[in-house]
Amino acid sequence: MLKVVDLHKDFGGLKVLDGVDLEVERNQVVGLIGPNGSGKTTLFNVIAGVYKPTSGEVLLDGERVDGLKPDQLYRKGLVRTFQIPRPFRKLTVLDNLLLAGREQIGERFLNVFRLIKWKMQEKELLEKAEEIMDLLNLSHLSDEYAGNLSGGQLKLLELGRALMSDPKIMLLDEPAGGVNPTLAIRLFGKIRELAETRNLTFFIIEHRMETLMNYSDYMFVLYRGKIIVEGEPKKVMDDERVIEVYLGEL
Ligand SMILES: Nc1ncnc2c1ncn2[C@@H]1O[C@H](COP(=O)(O)OP(=O)(O)OP(=O)(O)O)[C@@H](O)[C@H]1O
Ligand SMILES: [Mg+2]
Repeated sequence: MLKVVDLHKDFGGLKVLDGVDLEVERNQVVGLIGPNGSGKTTLFNVIAGVYKPTSGEVLLDGERVDGLKPDQLYRKGLVRTFQIPRPFRKLTVLDNLLLAGREQIGERFLNVFRLIKWKMQEKELLEKAEEIMDLLNLSHLSDEYAGNLSGGQLKLLELGRALMSDPKIMLLDEPAGGVNPTLAIRLFGKIRELAETRNLTFFIIEHRMETLMNYSDYMFVLYRGKIIVEGEPKKVMDDERVIEVYLGEL
């Protein structure tokens, strides 16, 4: 589904990504771990089109996509969430979801003349939003302003907004960051369920590798801009280099 080939990203003289190679298989939940500052968010930013790579390739479904803009990638089914959620705080949960759905379809001026079609689309969006709220246990907060949600609820809303676009692959930057362990487990459970029932692929940055371990099929470890270890979670967790890198940071 996603392939990254010899990807480099420099900021000034700083080599933040230094030859990253990886592949994310369809319908899998794949983890990206690594200590602070190892380049995880930068990698997501390059894949999602926020930054142009200094060199290297990004392929989505076999098609070169490096250099495309975030909205172009979004339309190709690649959506990312942010380490810090960015909802519209003065809109309700429901409106945040509806708006995310609309962004994708786009309200073209000419559609105004196709009122029936437009209304049908509104109805479909509403149904989709309700389904997603149900799935994420957000239904009771439908009319709540996003600004009043807890940290964990905001993370769920961020996930819901991304789901509204019917993505093929979702890049989640620390979806459980700052969320208590119980909710984190619930959240990863949901992600697992989505991968299995909705034909979705997930690529997830996570700091607490223990949490992700039980919910991912495969893991990559990024350290100083390079993938140093990859494999099944158990194998990765037991790898001496991974332990060293994490201990070194503490
Ligand atoms: N736009 C930028 N300009 C200059 N340096 C940057 C830029 N973005 C990131 N960096 C640097 O790149 C390095 C990697 O940052 P990045 O945010 O990708 O790490 P990370 O692995 O996501 O860390 P964390 O676990 O703390 O979220 C850091 O040294 C950071 O200061
Ligand atoms: Mg980061």
